[in-house]
Amino acid sequence: MGKDVIIACDFASAAETFAFLDRFTGRKPFVKIGMELFYAEGPAIVRELKSRGHKIFLDLKLHDIPNTVKKAMAVLSRLDADVVNVHAAGTTAMMEAALEGLTRPDGTRPLLIAVTQLTSTDQAAMERDLLIREPIADVVMHYAETAKNAGLDGVVCSPLEAERVHETCGRGFLTVTPGIRFADGEIGDQKRIMTPAEAKRIGSDYIVVGRPITKADDPVAAYERCIAEFVG
Ligand code: C5P
Repeated sequence: MGKDVIIACDFASAAETFAFLDRFTGRKPFVKIGMELFYAEGPAIVRELKSRGHKIFLDLKLHDIPNTVKKAMAVLSRLDADVVNVHAAGTTAMMEAALEGLTRPDGTRPLLIAVTQLTSTDQAAMERDLLIREPIADVVMHYAETAKNAGLDGVVCSPLEAERVHETCGRGFLTVTPGIRFADGEIGDQKRIMTPAEAKRIGSDYIVVGRPITKADDPVAAYERCIAEFVG
């Protein structure tokens, strides 16, 4: 797995997803499937996209007791997703159980990354609702270190945090960064953003790009622009 652009396929149905991906003739983009599409279409959507040749980041953010997560991860591993994730807040025991569940009899497994603190959570909400009083940037780094110590492969984080995650956890620990916008594009509801070129400069391993590609007049051209800025 190297540097790549992952398209967030935030569509409501398989039909919409396939209509979108059919535009990419000769290209098989790495795609992210989230809760909406997975809950609507079930495992069949993963099998179908795999059979069409796409790599898949299954963004289901598991967070439960270790035994439940282990069993659920064994199912996702058999689906042959390439990247799956959990909440680091589930603790070391849960992350270790997730890894165990993911690992196939032949020793192979999908990559497992952790969600640290959701970017929708701010300092005030974290203190008020979770009683966590440390600075949020330190909390994010602590979650990243905990994930690394549990044996995970990386984290989903803001591109603004990627450099510090690499400093703290090492260059080989993957940073998968959403919040990507073109310099001349619409920002929408994202707040802390970077361009694909900036994300490349700060060392993101994968960028997750949704609306700048899915809502573009020419999604294929927008994807190629992401590839050119981030990979090329
Ligand atoms: O459309 P946009 O490029 O903003 O999509 C970004 C994708 O990354 C969405 O699927 C969103 O749910 C996801 N994401 C995010 N911020 C996080 C974690 C995931 O934007 N912290």
